[in-house]
Amino acid sequence: MTTTTAAVRTGRAAAKAVGLNKVYGAGETRVVALDDVSVEFRQGEFTAIMGPSGSGKSTLMHCMAGLDAVSSGSATIGDTELVGLKDKQLTQLRRDKIGFIFQAFNLLPTLTALENITLPMDIAGRKVDKAWLDAVVDTVGLSGRLSHRPSQLSGGQQQRVACARALAGRPEIIFADEPTGNLDSRSGGEILAFLRNSVRDLGQTVVMVTHDPVAASYADRVVFLADGRIVDELTAPTADAVLDRMRSFDAKGRTS
Ligand SMILES: Nc1ncnc2c1ncn2[C@@H]1O[C@H](COP(=O)(O)OP(=O)(O)O)[C@@H](O)[C@H]1O
Ligand SMILES: [Mg+2]
Repeated sequence: MTTTTAAVRTGRAAAKAVGLNKVYGAGETRVVALDDVSVEFRQGEFTAIMGPSGSGKSTLMHCMAGLDAVSSGSATIGDTELVGLKDKQLTQLRRDKIGFIFQAFNLLPTLTALENITLPMDIAGRKVDKAWLDAVVDTVGLSGRLSHRPSQLSGGQQQRVACARALAGRPEIIFADEPTGNLDSRSGGEILAFLRNSVRDLGQTVVMVTHDPVAASYADRVVFLADGRIVDELTAPTADAVLDRMRSFDAKGRTS
């Protein structure tokens, strides 16, 4: 039997949701943020999540990353079921298996770039894998900036520090919620290229929320959400194909 690279890369789910529901509030203020969502994020794959504002993108990420409790259904990271885990176990799982990149970078201003990158491992009392750290820092192109504080770095460089921080612990999966939302298109392009390279070269698994068709085109696959449901999927997306698909949803929304 021949094993292709693609088969290896997509052999196993890094994260998986089955029949995921998330309801906020009750009565008049009840909102169904996720409505029976089943989706798989395969190892070594770069997935973009798209959809209109309020469609449940952030909620899906937060539920998958154990930052928010699900109302019903199942969410797994690797072989670990998140539902039913105690707070302490969830904290540990997030620390050991999940990396986050937020739109607002979320760096500590008093720490240098390098200290920010290694902070999660320092807190966890985990030894830093020097060779891996060097590879990550090199890939992010921050070698000359490691002793700078966030205020001495451009927005793009700060987000690269946040990317390196997420990658440094070799997490099972990285979740990024609009990571280029605060960046100009050039800096944004660098971050997206970096995320794509981390998938291709380092075997990282990345799930990224974005509303930008160009950003989505860096991914291997795009999953579309609308009203808390997965409504479509696109593989090997181009920006034009993503845009077309978004327009077709808009058209449906207006006529229904
Ligand atoms: N903490 C919360 N409390 C109540 N409603 C929320 C909360 N978070 C999100 N929602 C609601 O859930 C829906 C999905 O939100 P969200 O996942 O943030 O959407 P997106 O990221 O796609 O813009 C929205 O209707 C939003 O108002
Ligand atoms: Mg959001």
